[in-house]
Amino acid sequence: MDKSLSEKLDAFEKLGTPVWYYDLEVLSETIETLKAIAGDKGIAIHYALKANPDERIVAMMAAAGFGADCVSGGEVALAAKQGIPADRIFYAGVGKTDREIRESIDLGVRFNVESLEELYVVNAFAGEMGKTARVSLRLNPNVDGRTLKYITSGLHDNKFGLPPHDVDSAIEMLKASGNIVFEGLHFHIGSQITSVRKVFGELCGKVREAVRYFEERGIDVKCINLGGGLGIDYENPSKSPDFEGWLGTIAEGLKDLRPRTIELEPGRSLVAGCCSLISRVLFVKHGENKDFMILDAGMSELLRPALYGSFHLIENLSAEAERKAFREQSLYDIVGPICESSDTWGRDRRMPLSVRGDVVAIRSAGAYGKSMSSTYNLRAQAPTIWSDEI
Ligand code: LLP
Repeated sequence: MDKSLSEKLDAFEKLGTPVWYYDLEVLSETIETLKAIAGDKGIAIHYALKANPDERIVAMMAAAGFGADCVSGGEVALAAKQGIPADRIFYAGVGKTDREIRESIDLGVRFNVESLEELYVVNAFAGEMGKTARVSLRLNPNVDGRTLKYITSGLHDNKFGLPPHDVDSAIEMLKASGNIVFEGLHFHIGSQITSVRKVFGELCGKVREAVRYFEERGIDVKCINLGGGLGIDYENPSKSPDFEGWLGTIAEGLKDLRPRTIELEPGRSLVAGCCSLISRVLFVKHGENKDFMILDAGMSELLRPALYGSFHLIENLSAEAERKAFREQSLYDIVGPICESSDTWGRDRRMPLSVRGDVVAIRSAGAYGKSMSSTYNLRAQAPTIWSDEI
């Protein structure tokens, strides 16, 4: 934040805090960068709405020609409403309800089926409805995403995907299911993956084996979907995600499987960087052992630090704008207002000397921020402001 920093501070002042601030330029640039690399490598992009289902964001993804990865009937409906064609909407998730399944069959979206029972039910419902359902199978490849244990999803201990011992039965069911059109295989092994070449290189090996296995048994795999998972650098919020490394590794690892369609479902890497949660210092409390900087934003807005111990960089914008010359710093435990000790933004953070009323930016808040927020403690939902509204 620079020349326009004081304008932004004025806007935040008017709107009140906490507030989600979106930088359209960063978002457009990120979308355009990925679009160009994906076009170059021949990979189809499906935005994972769970990262941030803001309508304006989803509309921008639709305008870029991206499809959607959804995990509930609500997300499927929103993707369709924002103009993403049904044939580019995927519906994953281990626990789809009967109603969600029927509505999605009706819309014609593709199911990423995660269990034998689900495969049976989708086929049966489609038959009852006189329709055919488009299906890919999500396999559990037992690949370690080398990320936080909470957001690892490709190991046999995780609930996701079809376990290997069910694959033969799934193949038999696919052959016998008259109401299903089989499209391909789906994988998603975790989120915030930073060992990109190693992890996705290993996944590509498993994918090649799986495709061979299905095709040797007479099932054509037309589409291969490797999910999302590209990590970002939370310590350097302005650094662009490594799209080139991610897509490059996959294009190379799956080159023998062309001309099959290759698909990815990024969420975090597309939207995390464009948003800061803007908050205000309510009080600075000098405790027995440490100083607490108490913000008006907490785990009800951005749950990630409390839930996963995740790091988000925090900048004191007022100090940056008004007190540049005054460089004294101090260590703070930065905390929120919620009545939980886990409502902590960070411990022993070195910050400019901060005072009541200072405005701070909690960076990289665009992914899994607002989408995971709650009204815990009966708090109001924080509003959103876009850079073109200032
Ligand atoms: N595809 C599937 C099937 C997924 O389950 C996910 C994320 C994605 C794609 C998008 O992954 P991404 O590119 O965003 O890594 N709340 C956690 C992250 C949970 C991710 C769940 N699945 C967090 O705040 O870190």
